[in-house]
Amino acid sequence: MARLVIVSNRVPPPRAKGAASAGGLAVALQSFVSSGTLWFGWSGRVTERTPGKPKIVNGGGVTYATIDLGAEDYDRFYVGFANSSLWPLLHFRLGLMRYRREDFEGYLAVNAAFAEALIPMLRPDDMIWVHDYHLIPFADALRARGFTGRIGFFLHIPFVPPSVLDALPPARALMRSLCAYDVVGFQTRTHLQDFLDCARRFGGFAVEGEEVVTEGGRVRAIADPIGIDAPSFARVAARSAGTDYIRRLTESLTGRALAISAERLDYSKGLPNRFEGFARLLARFPQHHRTVSLLQIAARSREDVVEYQALRRELDRLAGDINGRFSQFDWVPLRYMTQTVARTKLAGLFRIARIGLVTPLRDGMNLVAKEFVAAQDPADPGVLVLSRFAGAAEELTEALLVNPYDPDEIAEAMNTALEMSLEERQERHAALRRAVFEVTAARYCNVFVEALAGEAGAGPPPAN
Ligand code: G6P
Repeated sequence: MARLVIVSNRVPPPRAKGAASAGGLAVALQSFVSSGTLWFGWSGRVTERTPGKPKIVNGGGVTYATIDLGAEDYDRFYVGFANSSLWPLLHFRLGLMRYRREDFEGYLAVNAAFAEALIPMLRPDDMIWVHDYHLIPFADALRARGFTGRIGFFLHIPFVPPSVLDALPPARALMRSLCAYDVVGFQTRTHLQDFLDCARRFGGFAVEGEEVVTEGGRVRAIADPIGIDAPSFARVAARSAGTDYIRRLTESLTGRALAISAERLDYSKGLPNRFEGFARLLARFPQHHRTVSLLQIAARSREDVVEYQALRRELDRLAGDINGRFSQFDWVPLRYMTQTVARTKLAGLFRIARIGLVTPLRDGMNLVAKEFVAAQDPADPGVLVLSRFAGAAEELTEALLVNPYDPDEIAEAMNTALEMSLEERQERHAALRRAVFEVTAARYCNVFVEALAGEAGAGPPPAN
């Protein structure tokens, strides 16, 4: 069997098999990777210059090869093009997009440097699976260095229609790079359709069914929603609920219901709207004063990007405002933390929560929604309030779906959740649970790798 090579900007730290690890992609893939897999990407460290050679560590049979980023590359590639141009653009936030030509050049240069560092480690029949928006030109960069094996790409975040992508100055170059892969995967059918429309419009390619026909071959586009290892998360949640940490929280709630939100502190997550929604709940439904507390965990993220700094200041202000307006001397409605909380603890928090509030303005999938469902006790489950602009909403249709731009809708959904009968909670949860246990992390990996294995190499790169 061909060796699987995973390439992602973030590479999880090597770990012993079975140990709990960081989150999202790492968890989904780590249960899938087998002995012999090579995982390549950024080390997370910034040094003076991007070195030519990766550092290699083995763990649990997997070889991890990571490379530092030079300060200027970090600035242009990571802070610049990836997180100040592509991230806002692909989350429909044109107003937040900043573009500088030198950032795009830095983005291409880092992709080239990564490919250069990986090439000596590759075997001709390796199957390469590239992850996320940082690495769109990676296939081009490998092909330019002579690699002819199969290369697939999965986008973890949303994709946009042509009218939105049009705002990005290098839209054409980017689409042609995406079409240099053998397989391109998306979280939902909506993103897949937008990709096909953009391939036609900006790549100038013909589209036949769900394949893009390029000068070099055919690109197969698939929708392959990412999932979680639900049985394992459910076990961790049940165990965690009995720990001291969760006991302390329960005691501090003194019988009040807990609403919980947990994510990175990111403007795509709709945090100000959610805070406003919670304030509306308290203003419009005073019967919930003293009966509910919202625990918002917003782990600090991408702190070198100015928009994230501005968001943090805004949230500090909003949190202070809500608590100033509604607190009573023995009740604080909003508990707001910007620290990272370990996954095992989060699982326990989800389990005892009455409401899971997941209201991003846009999200590729959102695994917190799935984890919240998996963590519930089926006999007395909490209610998921979910944005209809999260990819997960296409599968989790029994959640209370809201438009996160409307704080009143969030408030009304929270009110409904707090007043929902046990029977309705159980019914909704049973349906959600089926969905979460069916579309698993393993299935996600198998679907992608099977699609990739079924493809022949794309041959020479299309001329740009
Ligand atoms: C999102 C992206 C990932 C990214 C993660 C954390 O989930 O899809 O590619 O790794 O956010 O962001 P960071 O910038 O810290 O890697």
